[in-house]
Amino acid sequence: MSEFSTVLTESRKFPPPPGFAEKAHLKSMDDYRRLCAEADANPDAYWAARAKEELFWQTPFSTVCEWKPPFAKWFLGGRTNLSYNALDRHLATQGDKVAIRFEGEPGDRRDVTYRELHAEVCRLANGLRALGVKPGDRVGIYLPLIPEAAVAMLACARIGATHSVVFGGFSAEALRDRMNDAKAKVLITSDGGWRKGHVVPLLDNVRASIAHGIPSMEKVIVAHRTGATPPALQPNEVAWSELVASEPASCEPEWVDSEHPLFILYTSGSTGTPKGVLHTTGGYGVWTSLTTRWVFDLKPDDVYWCTADVGWVTGHSYVVYGPLMNGATVVLYEGAPTTPGPDRFWELIARHQVTIFYTAPTAIRAFMRLGEEHPKRHDLTSLRLLGTVGEPINPEAWMWYRETIGGGRCPIVDTWWQTETGGILISPLPGVTTTKPGSATLPLPGIHPAILDKDHHEVRQGAGKLFLLKPWPSMLRTIWGNELRFRAGYFAEHPKYYFTGDGARRDADGYFWIIGRVDDVVNVAGHRLGTAEVESALVSHPRVAEAAVVGRPDSLKGTALVAFVTMKAGVETSKALEAELAAHVTKEIGAIARPDEIRFAAGLPKTRSGKIMRRLLRDVAAGTDSKGDTSTLEDLSVLAALRNDEE
Ligand code: WT7
Repeated sequence: MSEFSTVLTESRKFPPPPGFAEKAHLKSMDDYRRLCAEADANPDAYWAARAKEELFWQTPFSTVCEWKPPFAKWFLGGRTNLSYNALDRHLATQGDKVAIRFEGEPGDRRDVTYRELHAEVCRLANGLRALGVKPGDRVGIYLPLIPEAAVAMLACARIGATHSVVFGGFSAEALRDRMNDAKAKVLITSDGGWRKGHVVPLLDNVRASIAHGIPSMEKVIVAHRTGATPPALQPNEVAWSELVASEPASCEPEWVDSEHPLFILYTSGSTGTPKGVLHTTGGYGVWTSLTTRWVFDLKPDDVYWCTADVGWVTGHSYVVYGPLMNGATVVLYEGAPTTPGPDRFWELIARHQVTIFYTAPTAIRAFMRLGEEHPKRHDLTSLRLLGTVGEPINPEAWMWYRETIGGGRCPIVDTWWQTETGGILISPLPGVTTTKPGSATLPLPGIHPAILDKDHHEVRQGAGKLFLLKPWPSMLRTIWGNELRFRAGYFAEHPKYYFTGDGARRDADGYFWIIGRVDDVVNVAGHRLGTAEVESALVSHPRVAEAAVVGRPDSLKGTALVAFVTMKAGVETSKALEAELAAHVTKEIGAIARPDEIRFAAGLPKTRSGKIMRRLLRDVAAGTDSKGDTSTLEDLSVLAALRNDEE
């Protein structure tokens, strides 16, 4: 919320740079308005045209959209395959073009052409079939950001298996919970991956999580990445190289129904454990393919680098599916931005002549702090377009990005979307939209966001909750195995309008300014976390009685995590205990969920009905005075005690 006051006074405007628009796929506000008008006048015709342009359909679809709120189906009756669309389609025209330009953290490099990627995907797809993986079976993927991650995803898509990628930074416990929820049959991993000069022990984590019980898991496929020699394997494990050794480099794709489950990706909600967001094939394929070209103005000779890990939706949609379906050259970098030095990203951009760069505001803020001497040492003139995603970007960071990285000449696309939306929904179009620092600007043609007040009246200018009034092709279809949670999470506020969980403001030009989450989901350094998850990790510690976790504005991470913890009777609090609890959260979830601050409290402030007063705790955490009504506090001394802790 702290950035909100800055954006309210933000008045700078940046039209598309001269020369950019003429060459762009979408060139003017007229182009944009025409598409919006088409989508409004005849949505079925508009979406059918987009679907035919973007994908090869082995069987054409017969119905464009079936909307029975909250359930949407798109391109019904159509059959396609996204691995075919991402690979086979390009072989005749550009088989020797580099699809993935990989660079490992230790500096090893590998270019994978479309032909080579196709062959590797086919081999693994055949290997998966040989293991008995059938269409609709779930396959877990727990890998570093190496080409094998994209190969694994596309191999699943090729045979109609539903992949569920788990970010390599998640712990063994978090991996086990996700694999159990998905009832995955096979897990694809590696001995390890490089991060900040160290090896992340992925295979050890996999073994620990299986030891704790994943009844559905039949086989683990192990790629060799870090060790001097391949790891010694156990009976339930098979080396990737061995699995594919005798498999042919071609594999007939499984022509799946448009609504066939493509992937499940776990993300945090305001309650309970992470939820499995389900995306299906046709609609997701159409929208990620189209938005990659529109928003990033992708051209055949671009070198495109989105820094996201494939463990997040950004990596699914804008590292793997969208760019590869467009036949782009994608840069893939395994490691940390500051390894071996603070200029690793800039050195990579200069050496690979990156033209499109897409990253998160938290990274930009971190680079700002490191100092502009690092980017200044490198020639960044190959860049022609910059993007951001994941959290609101404060105008200072936006301006720094524009000037220091973009040399004042690159348009910036601030793209708003979510794991659930599958693809970008609100964003500037670089040849069309006049940008304002900190605003995601306008919806893409065919998308209908609206800010509603508490009576569900549209707020044309002003602030409120952000909804999507109509379905879009890449919207989540449900929460895996939990329809109730799907309804409760997105359609409890209104039965027909999708609630985003975000608060937003719309200005006099109709531009959207995303304020941030209005539920108990926080965005910590661009990573989405539910405060409830961190709380349950804390209370799973044998000496913790109760915990409440809230976000506190942080100039680097966007939001920092503050945990208020009460201990069981007789437990002495200490610095050592604080460290032990933080380590416990890391073990239960992963380092991204580690609280930035742990405060011990005698009790937590609650309403008469026993609900923890989070607003009060947020104020205490932020060090501001609560203007809220505290008369419902069961015990005012609890609040006073917390305040004293601050001194
Ligand atoms: C939440 C979704 C979309 C891929 C990465 C995050 C926040 C996302 C923006 C933006 C302001 C943004 C929202 C949203 N968010 N993009 N451009 N400006 N906020 O996906 O992990 O599902 O998180 O990220 O709060 O609800 P996610």
